[in-house]
Amino acid sequence: MDHLPAAAVVILAAGAGTRMKSRVPKVLHSVAGRTLLSHAIAAGREVNPSRLCVVVRHERDQVAADALAFDDTVLIADQDDIPGTGRAVQCALDKLVEDGVELRGPIIVTASDTPMLDGGILSELLGSHVAQGNAVTVLTTHLADPTGYGRIVRNHGAVVGIVEEKDATEDQRAIREINAAVYVFEAEVLEKALHRVDQANAQGEVYLTDVIRIAHEQGLRVQGVAVEDSWTVEGCNDKVQLAALGREMNRRIVEEWMREGVTVVDPATTWIDVDVDLTSDVTILPNVQLHGACRIETGATIGPDTTLTDVEVGEGATVLRTHGSLAVIGKWATVGPFAYLRPGTYLGEGGKIGAFVETRNTTIGHGSRVPRLSYVSDTDIGDDTDVSAGVVFEHQDLTEPAEETTEEGTQA
Ligand code: UD1
Ligand code: CA
Repeated sequence: MDHLPAAAVVILAAGAGTRMKSRVPKVLHSVAGRTLLSHAIAAGREVNPSRLCVVVRHERDQVAADALAFDDTVLIADQDDIPGTGRAVQCALDKLVEDGVELRGPIIVTASDTPMLDGGILSELLGSHVAQGNAVTVLTTHLADPTGYGRIVRNHGAVVGIVEEKDATEDQRAIREINAAVYVFEAEVLEKALHRVDQANAQGEVYLTDVIRIAHEQGLRVQGVAVEDSWTVEGCNDKVQLAALGREMNRRIVEEWMREGVTVVDPATTWIDVDVDLTSDVTILPNVQLHGACRIETGATIGPDTTLTDVEVGEGATVLRTHGSLAVIGKWATVGPFAYLRPGTYLGEGGKIGAFVETRNTTIGHGSRVPRLSYVSDTDIGDDTDVSAGVVFEHQDLTEPAEETTEEGTQA
């Protein structure tokens, strides 16, 4: 949409996510090759906000580092020891002010555990907020099983409040319209209302959702915008939801590539991360995982049974039963079966890395072949060279201590 006012985006990532039962903070779990937090930042970025602020507390340094690694322009706000989503937003507002942002106009707030939320939905919500002149606009959806979510309470169609599952009456629990935890607030309304939110609820937290009731009571315009596709707002609170979201997101990614002309023989066993780049007339055989920033050129065939992370595959190449990371495979080259390409492997045009060959930090020239049973490390093999079976090339620098050789590409 054009002419939308630049809005600050606030992403809440301070919670512990105890239902994940993990040492890893919830928002640092990954689907489709990105952490939940990075998905949230990517969505927020799409509306070109004046400032994007991530609120952290639980495992603060780890979460902040993940946010900054994905986008180093993110503003990090620390939540203090008062719990709740409302407090998290208050801490973000304080940080934005400290950073010189004027609290006027719309502010978008999202959770960081809805990885399928995208910029398109945020733009629509913002567009509706501005067009309707709302004080608060909240994204909702209707779920067959709304258990665990905040329920949208309406009166004659108007949103009058949001009630959390733990605070809801039996009648309210029957409501199927839920709060997706994605909002647009007028900054002044938000700021004033937050000062009036207390911790008098079942969880003893400062609920952001109370702002909706307060705004309504002040006679301000509150609108609920329902999305049809509830996957886009599906929250990830435990590992069952994590797997379900991962599968659905992958299903959509694979489908999109097929529509772009990629042949996928078995979509159910093909896993493609969001940052992978494919070309029409690539063929993917069953049981293939493409992670990180893989790029596959036209006419290449990958699989079956192949896992590539950050690998470039040239036009017309074939990669069969192979495990590879941070490698480059030239045009019309062939790799596998049973090849292990470790970081720093460059295979030239028309070259071959054959059965039971492991390579690392090595260049194999155009048309050169290492056909079987070899280990090639720290070596430059020129063009049009044939290496016979069972050869080991290894560079050992006796002045250096034995080297750690477990490095891999970025993990999904
Ligand atoms: C929240 C909403 C609920 C909504 C649901 C949608 C509130 C009170 N409830 O519930 O209405 O249906 O999301 O998924 O807002 N967080 C902080 N600081 C905190 C607590 C949480 O930053 O003190 C962050 C979390 O990291 C997370 C987000 O806020 O990204 C939501 O927290 P979570 O505990 O998942 O809230 P829900 O109980 O799911
Ligand atoms: Ca949640």
